[in-house]
Amino acid sequence: MSLDYTELKPRIGAQLHADKTALVSGEYADEIRALLVERGVLLVRGANMDDHEQREFTRSLGDLRLGTFKQEGEEGLLKVTMDKKENPEYAAFFPGTFFWHMDGTYDPLPPFATTLSPRVLSPEGGQTEFANTYAAFEDLPADEQAYLETLQVVHTMHAAMFHAVPDAGAEEYATWLGYPQPAYPLVWQHKSGRKSLVLSTSGSHVVGMHPADSRDLLDRLMRHATQEQYVYRHEWEMGDVVMWDNTGTMHRVRPYDPDCGRQLHRFTLNGEEAITAVA
Ligand SMILES: [Fe+2]
Repeated sequence: MSLDYTELKPRIGAQLHADKTALVSGEYADEIRALLVERGVLLVRGANMDDHEQREFTRSLGDLRLGTFKQEGEEGLLKVTMDKKENPEYAAFFPGTFFWHMDGTYDPLPPFATTLSPRVLSPEGGQTEFANTYAAFEDLPADEQAYLETLQVVHTMHAAMFHAVPDAGAEEYATWLGYPQPAYPLVWQHKSGRKSLVLSTSGSHVVGMHPADSRDLLDRLMRHATQEQYVYRHEWEMGDVVMWDNTGTMHRVRPYDPDCGRQLHRFTLNGEEAITAVA
């Protein structure tokens, strides 16, 4: 039987209609992987997976990231929370997640995909939004696409965190500056043949461009890529499992009460290809 789904919006998102046992067993893994890349973000409502089931489901889709990221447990579980007691290292970087970003722009291979499932919801706010950077690139005029394909952007933790933590002290700055500052193509030629914009708040500046022009270009592209037609806003319900293709989308969380205990459980799949320029 083939995978049953409905599209959430014309340019992004799909909701899967499949029972948990089939999902966790990996029965639809190939179809889900293909659909994930095509639609950017997938939702299973009422999946009610526990940690073990969510891990097995995630593992069926790729190479599970296990203990290579210090904020994750050895079994790959990352507790997404602002609670400093629960996960102090992660909580320090949490403010950055309120801004549009890709995960892992500091890694040679940014993560392929992530699954997320709520354990405690916020009474208000806390929606997660996703923006399709394949679709945003595909809609640009051909001459602009060709120009953008020639550009490289330097990504820094400082750029990602500076606006998110306006009262940061010397210690935070030192931590941020300790991260790699790679330059990546602004347009990613994926092995699949599709192209996407590599946009994130970590995008500091365009290589070789005047700083004012660089800022203007990156801000303008960010506004373009986060227009309503490219964005799916997810209103969380208990039991949801949401996954996104980190290589062809950005994401952010909407504000919520930091003391409400909101917690989502997350598993991440290792990257499979480097950000590659158009030949
Ligand atoms: Fe993120």
